[in-house]
Amino acid sequence: MSHRLTSLLLAGAVLAPSEAFAALHQGLTSALAHTTFDYIIVGGGAAGAVVANRLSEDHDISVLLIEAGSRKGSDFNDTAIEIPGRSAALQKTRFDWNFTTTPQVGYDNRSIAYPRGHVLGGSTAINVMAYCRGSRDDYDRWARVTGDYGWSWDSLFPYILNLDRVTPSADGHSTAGQFNPDVHGHTGLLNISLANYFIEPGALSINASHELSSQFPFNLDFNSGNTVGLSYTQQTIYKGARFTSAHGYLAPFFERPNLDVVVNTLVTKVVQTGTHRDVPAFRAVQVYNSSTNTTTKLTARHEVILSAGAVKSPHLLMLSGIGDTSELSAVGIEPLVSLPDVGKNLQDHVFLPLIHTVVPGVFTLNQLRENATFAAAALAQWTNTRTGPLTLPGGDTWGWFRLPASSSAFEIAPDPSAGETSAHYEAIIEDTFISKVLTPPSTGNFLTLLLNLISPASRGTISLASADPLAAPLIDPRFLTAPVDIAMIREAIRAVRVFLAAPAWQGWITGEYGALANATTDAELDAFARSNADSVDHVSGTVAMGPRECTRVGCGALNPDLSVKGTVGLRVVDASAFPFIISGHTQGSTYILAERASDIIKNARH
Ligand SMILES: Cc1cc2nc3c(=O)[nH]c(=O)nc-3n(C[C@H](O)[C@H](O)[C@H](O)COP(=O)(O)OP(=O)(O)OC[C@H]3O[C@@H](n4cnc5c(N)ncnc54)[C@H](O)[C@@H]3O)c2cc1C
Ligand SMILES: *[C@@H]1O[C@H](CO)[C@@H](O)[C@H](O)[C@H]1NC(C)=O
Ligand SMILES: *[C@@H]1O[C@H](CO)[C@@H](O)[C@H](O)[C@H]1NC(C)=O
Ligand SMILES: *[C@@H]1O[C@H](CO)[C@@H](O)[C@H](O)[C@H]1NC(C)=O
Ligand SMILES: *[C@@H]1O[C@H](CO)[C@@H](O)[C@H](O)[C@H]1NC(C)=O
Ligand SMILES: *[C@@H]1O[C@H](CO)[C@@H](O)[C@H](O)[C@H]1NC(C)=O
Ligand SMILES: *[C@@H]1O[C@H](CO)[C@@H](O)[C@H](O)[C@H]1NC(C)=O
Ligand SMILES: *[C@@H]1O[C@H](CO)[C@@H](O)[C@H](O)[C@H]1NC(C)=O
Ligand SMILES: *[C@@H]1O[C@H](CO)[C@@H](O)[C@H](O)[C@H]1NC(C)=O
Ligand SMILES: *[C@@H]1O[C@H](CO)[C@@H](O)[C@H](O)[C@H]1NC(C)=O
Repeated sequence: MSHRLTSLLLAGAVLAPSEAFAALHQGLTSALAHTTFDYIIVGGGAAGAVVANRLSEDHDISVLLIEAGSRKGSDFNDTAIEIPGRSAALQKTRFDWNFTTTPQVGYDNRSIAYPRGHVLGGSTAINVMAYCRGSRDDYDRWARVTGDYGWSWDSLFPYILNLDRVTPSADGHSTAGQFNPDVHGHTGLLNISLANYFIEPGALSINASHELSSQFPFNLDFNSGNTVGLSYTQQTIYKGARFTSAHGYLAPFFERPNLDVVVNTLVTKVVQTGTHRDVPAFRAVQVYNSSTNTTTKLTARHEVILSAGAVKSPHLLMLSGIGDTSELSAVGIEPLVSLPDVGKNLQDHVFLPLIHTVVPGVFTLNQLRENATFAAAALAQWTNTRTGPLTLPGGDTWGWFRLPASSSAFEIAPDPSAGETSAHYEAIIEDTFISKVLTPPSTGNFLTLLLNLISPASRGTISLASADPLAAPLIDPRFLTAPVDIAMIREAIRAVRVFLAAPAWQGWITGEYGALANATTDAELDAFARSNADSVDHVSGTVAMGPRECTRVGCGALNPDLSVKGTVGLRVVDASAFPFIISGHTQGSTYILAERASDIIKNARH
């Protein structure tokens, strides 16, 4: 804390009262480098922002949060980030780490882009803002596999309930009947909202769910613990603009004297600081300064917490000598802790757009791409009033559906979903052309039913390409490699064909677009999926928690309290820790995990 005092004294009279971000530093100052913090958190994304906030609630605890991204600390406030309808444009910019996967065997050996947020707010600043908590069965499975009942839905419920705050819609419409207020708290730091713009196929999908309610029921709130059914979407959007972890958990708290946030600063490894009862302690990090090509070591009094996300947290552990010893030795890194599960168990969701043509006369958001006048008007509307089509990041409705227990998919392997409250596939209804493979035609009306395989069985890896901390790791999600996954996606395509044949859609949808139209046999459907699929960008599970005593391969790299097995003073708190990916978009469960983790860390001090 003393450096803050010093800099305040030095700044003296020139410190304007409007200086909003006393604790936000654009680089590692020598004052910071000479301060010993109680906790050092690496990464200011979904999880890191929560942990920094919760630990610094206690005035006696000093916290340093180190974030690699952000040219300036207020980057999360950038208009490009805040316009919900423009999220795809953030990829391959300075807000993205620009990762690429290895060739994906299940995707005809295509390599795909693997975006990750490189900015304060992390991936919450570049994601598509879908807000999902996951299902009761998802968390109950976490509790079962870790042996820690604290990870069950019921036990987590106070965190789940109090995480989000449903804020009024930006366009003033009534949200009655679009969600269940009883399953949301009203005091959370994470502001969310229902959609602020409505598309016709959203309403049609609701009607279709009423028409086919036995197979595709309506669900008032997918965030109640039971995700299954067709519902209105919920988003991390506040007053028509994106709301990141930095907006909710950091910016309002920059005045805390015991919280320092440094952006533009890359951590290259964690550093062993000694041993405690023969167990190596890792209470320091090494940070890299690219302009001087030098490193600085920062030591924490209590703990280092890695919240660098499910690509970089395992990468940092391996760079530090914590991982599979033969893999480390192979690239010339001295193994310090044998922990073969680091970088294994990667889980992600398969993204498969099913594009349809719709009747020529209707209005669709293809206009945003096809009609410059409309696009300019939409941008002006968003800029002036934070309303209109650009407030919508995707669809305003989505379905979370299960395949029947009798599905042929489950003759191949047991159902990989967590249970009855978890879907097998998600179907997002969007009235525009979506594909990461096909180029949209310059004119035409399209609807995309975006299929996401939400309870997958495939498992991938993060591994070292080299010992160079500035080189990206090898990312191999192994999408659609488990036979049950390709079978589930095949049966999901067949199921949504039934949904889209409901009377509600008659006279609106005219047909399937492209190769989908010709795909009916198993082989044709599989070929269509493998050649058109991508990622929903939900990488998880790469430093998974597991049972405390177990050190066998497959038992997880973390204890249930998120401490790294075989170490002291080191935890991983982010989406890496999920033993199973949840059956929803993953930011919500990352926030939930980080809220409980913060209490675990606070309680460990006593
Ligand atoms: C394009 C995209 C779309 C998505 N869409 C959705 C969606 O609609 N809904 C949803 O729920 N989820 C979505 N997700 C996933 C969701 O955003 C993530 O699951 C969530 O942000 C994970 O949180 P995290 O804390 O684990 O990691 P992140 O939020 O990625 O944060 C990690 C942080 O650590 C920093 N960092 C990494 N390495 C270092 C280092 N060496 N030194 C210093 N700092 C470092 C990073 O820059 C980053 O800020 C999407 C993700 C992406 C990329
Ligand atoms: C790198 O070092 C230079 C020289 O000491 C310093 O001015 C700069 O702020 C440092 N950059 C970061 C990002 O810490
Ligand atoms: C961020 O945006 C808010 C709202 O527009 C504004 O009040 C605040 O000053 C901005 N902060 C920065 C650092 O630009
Ligand atoms: C990602 O790529 C873009 C485009 O090449 C580049 O401008 C940006 O700096 C890159 N991001 C990072 C973090 O290097
Ligand atoms: C993908 O690559 C593997 C390994 O190189 C090869 O065996 C396989 O035939 C390739 N598959 C396709 C569809 O090209
Ligand atoms: C949905 O069904 C209701 C009741 O039949 C009908 O009034 C409404 O027009 C339908 N919505 C759309 C978008 O067709
Ligand atoms: C979140 O929403 C609440 C209620 O609308 C508001 O008071 C608060 O300022 C918002 N938080 C931020 C950080 O904007
Ligand atoms: C940075 O320093 C390392 C180690 O001292 C050296 O190997 C490397 O060549 C340097 N890189 C640059 C760009 O100077
Ligand atoms: C383009 O958008 C403008 C503004 O919404 C609209 O008036 C015009 O009819 C549109 N043009 C076409 C070809 O749809
Ligand atoms: C679908 O099959 C028909 C008949 O074989 C063929 O003419 C057409 O080009 C195919 N369409 C696509 C998009 O593959």
